[in-house]
Amino acid sequence: MTEASRSSNSEPRFRRLLVTGGAGFIGSCFVRDVMARRDGTSIAVLDKLTYAGNLANLAPVEADSEQAARFRFVHGDIADPAVVAPLVAEADAIVNFAAESHVDRSILEPVDFLRTDVVGVQVLLEACRAEQQRSAAGERPAAPRFLQVSTDEVYGSVETGASREDDRLEPRSPYSAAKAAGELLAHSYFVTYGLDVVVTRGSNTYGPYHYPEKLIPLFVTNAIDDQELPLYGDGLQRRDWLFVADHAGAIWHVLEHGAPGEIYNVRGGNERTNREVVTTLLEQLDKPWSLVRRVQDRPGHDRRYALDGSKLAALGWTSAVTFETGLAETVRWYCENESWWRPIKSGEFESYYRRQYGARLAGSSEAAR
Ligand code: NAD
Ligand code: TYD
Repeated sequence: MTEASRSSNSEPRFRRLLVTGGAGFIGSCFVRDVMARRDGTSIAVLDKLTYAGNLANLAPVEADSEQAARFRFVHGDIADPAVVAPLVAEADAIVNFAAESHVDRSILEPVDFLRTDVVGVQVLLEACRAEQQRSAAGERPAAPRFLQVSTDEVYGSVETGASREDDRLEPRSPYSAAKAAGELLAHSYFVTYGLDVVVTRGSNTYGPYHYPEKLIPLFVTNAIDDQELPLYGDGLQRRDWLFVADHAGAIWHVLEHGAPGEIYNVRGGNERTNREVVTTLLEQLDKPWSLVRRVQDRPGHDRRYALDGSKLAALGWTSAVTFETGLAETVRWYCENESWWRPIKSGEFESYYRRQYGARLAGSSEAAR
């Protein structure tokens, strides 16, 4: 069930949204779900269309004339002030999904992560600050709200217990370090300039339209083709899985109800080892464990992420989709939408795959169940 169908048709707090990174996995789900509410909200998506951005993710919006009338796509970079300023000037709120988002790519090539996940955030914040000044001069009603979509990875590896919002940040990959820097900058604009900033820290997200480089979409699409599944190390790392429509719904909830300057964990409530994830996925696809290969581990691999979700629960939101249900929906979607992922896997992806997995798979061994 999507957030759109779960929620009532109450008046939205913000009428004009700027959604950056809205052609990616979670951002496009947010856009599709908000537009499907038909509550009058208009959305401008700003997206650079990197390898992970895909206009096909927004096709359901473009195909619906009522939604298309409230929608605009702008191709551009959040780190470009000239592109960002006029879009922020027209927005009541900005939801920033734009990021380089894959840990393995951040290990191979960190520089783009700094440009987008840190400098890009700062450019968006500066544009909000300019609007705050226009608001003070009576040139617009209120300064825009800024929601920064962050990640549980900023807490680093958590061996036991669950991270709370005031826990120390200990990011350990170039990706999570850049995300931590981005959200700290956002918070600094709340403290220093009084900008209306809220931050969400979501856990590992999965679902339809997920670029097939992350664990679940990679393994589902490889398994459909009877290709090897490269499991890092012993496969006993643990993640808390959050269905994408739940994540998008939580972000909407925080946008509407979150208090300025606050940070909210978005917990899935579905902690699984990677081996357990792969076992369930293979069962659902009716494929054998023999496809799974133990490969050389990711350097600095975080062993476990786990979030305490009580702060967001107190604000009125908890996740709704169990892992088994969400995974079944995801597997079905990839089986029925080969036209979406096959072109992706035959493009830029191939050279990335060789670089990331070529030597690993050549030196792989049988994986323990
Ligand atoms: P994604 O990689 O699928 O999408 C990122 C989008 O941002 C793409 O459309 C890309 O084209 C766009 N983009 C990248 N650089 C840009 C730039 N400089 N200017 C404009 N657009 C740019 O990522 P996702 O999985 O949808 O993640 C969205 C956000 O959620 C990210 O900020 C990520 O850190 C965060 N997050 C992701 C997860 C997860 O498990 N996927 C979990 C928690 C938080
Ligand atoms: P991933 O989907 O990359 O998300 P994150 O690193 O942000 O948690 O990986 C999820 C887990 O799966 C993580 O422990 C790394 C592991 N993994 C593999 O074992 N093999 C793979 O090919 C990938 C992409 C991930």
